[in-house]
Amino acid sequence: MREIVTSITMRTRRPIPTIGLGVYKSEPGPVTKEAVLAALRAGYRHIDTASIYNNEADVGDAIAASGLDRSEVFVTTKLWNDDHGYDNALTAFDRSLEALGLDYVDLYLIHWPVPNLRLDTWRALERLTLDGRIRDIGVSNYMAKHLEEILEHAAVVPAVNQIEMSPYIYRSRLETINLCREQNIVIEAYSPLTKGRKLDDPVLAAVGDQYGKTPAQVLIRWAVDKGFVVLPKSITPQRIVENHDVFDFQLSDADVARLDDLDEGLATGWDPSEVE
Ligand SMILES: NC(=O)c1ccc[n+]([C@@H]2O[C@H](COP(=O)([O-])OP(=O)(O)OC[C@H]3O[C@@H](n4cnc5c(N)ncnc54)[C@H](OP(=O)(O)O)[C@@H]3O)[C@@H](O)[C@H]2O)c1
Repeated sequence: MREIVTSITMRTRRPIPTIGLGVYKSEPGPVTKEAVLAALRAGYRHIDTASIYNNEADVGDAIAASGLDRSEVFVTTKLWNDDHGYDNALTAFDRSLEALGLDYVDLYLIHWPVPNLRLDTWRALERLTLDGRIRDIGVSNYMAKHLEEILEHAAVVPAVNQIEMSPYIYRSRLETINLCREQNIVIEAYSPLTKGRKLDDPVLAAVGDQYGKTPAQVLIRWAVDKGFVVLPKSITPQRIVENHDVFDFQLSDADVARLDDLDEGLATGWDPSEVE
C-alpha cells in the first residue's frame, strides 16, 4: 500500500491539502455556506473559490462559523479577467480579501491567461506576496506556451497551475503536465467529475466495483494517484462526504492505465489551448 497522501508540498515548501471543495456555480448565500460547512465537517481543509463565483463572502462566513482556526483551512481565490493589469490586480485582491473577511489567502490565482496583460498582473501578484496577505501565487488555465512565457519573464515561479483534468482530457494535456512536473508546479485538477457528464460511463462503474467505490470516487482517486490536487464541487452533503472518502483505497497501475485510455480531449468549459 502506498502512503496515504492528504497534502502535497508546493515549491515554496508549504503544504496544500490534496482535496479541496470547489464552489463554482454554488449559489451565493446559504447554499454555499452550508456546502462549505458540510465539507469542513467531513474533513476537507481546502476551499476553492473565485471572485467571479460571487460567493467569497459565504466561504468566509462558513469558515468563521466552523469553529476551526483560520490556519487550519487552505483558502484559494482567483483574479477575474476584467481585473488584469498591475493596478487593477492590486485593487481586485483587496476586494476579494474584504469579501472573504480574512486577513490573508493561502493561494491567489490568475483565473485565465488574458493576452497582453497577464505579465503585468503577475507582477502585481508577486508584489502582493511581500506584505503577507497572500501566502502563495499561481495561475489557472495556463497551457505550456503560457507557462513558458511566465517562466521566461517572472521573478516568482507559479506555485500552482489549476487546469481542467480528468481521464477524459489527461493525455491531451501531457505537454502542460510534464512542464509543470519539471518546474515543480503543483497541478490542481478542476472539473474532476467532468461536471457530472461522464459519471455514468460503465468503465468507471466497473473499476469502482472492484474497490467498493463510486464513479465519482474513482475519478477523484485517479487524480490523487496522479499526484494532482483535486477540486470536486458539490452542494449535496452526502456527495461532499463521498468525494472525500478516497483515502482507504488506491487504484492499481492497470486501472490507472485503463482510465488514461478514456482520453477524448473533453474540455467541459472554455478550452485555453487556443489563447495566444
Ligand atoms: N479555474 C477554472 O477556470 C475553473 C473552471 C471550472 C471549475 N473550477 C474549480 O473546480 C471545481 C470543480 O469543477 P466543476 O464545478 O466544474 O465540476 P465537477 O466537480 O467536475 O462536477 C460537479 C458536478 O458533479 C456533481 N457531483 C458532485 N459529486 C458527485 C457525486 N459524488 N456523485 C454524483 N454527482 C456528483 C455536482 O452536483 P451537486 O453540486 O448538485 O451535488 C455538480 O453537478 C469548481 O467548483 C471550481 O472550484 C475552476
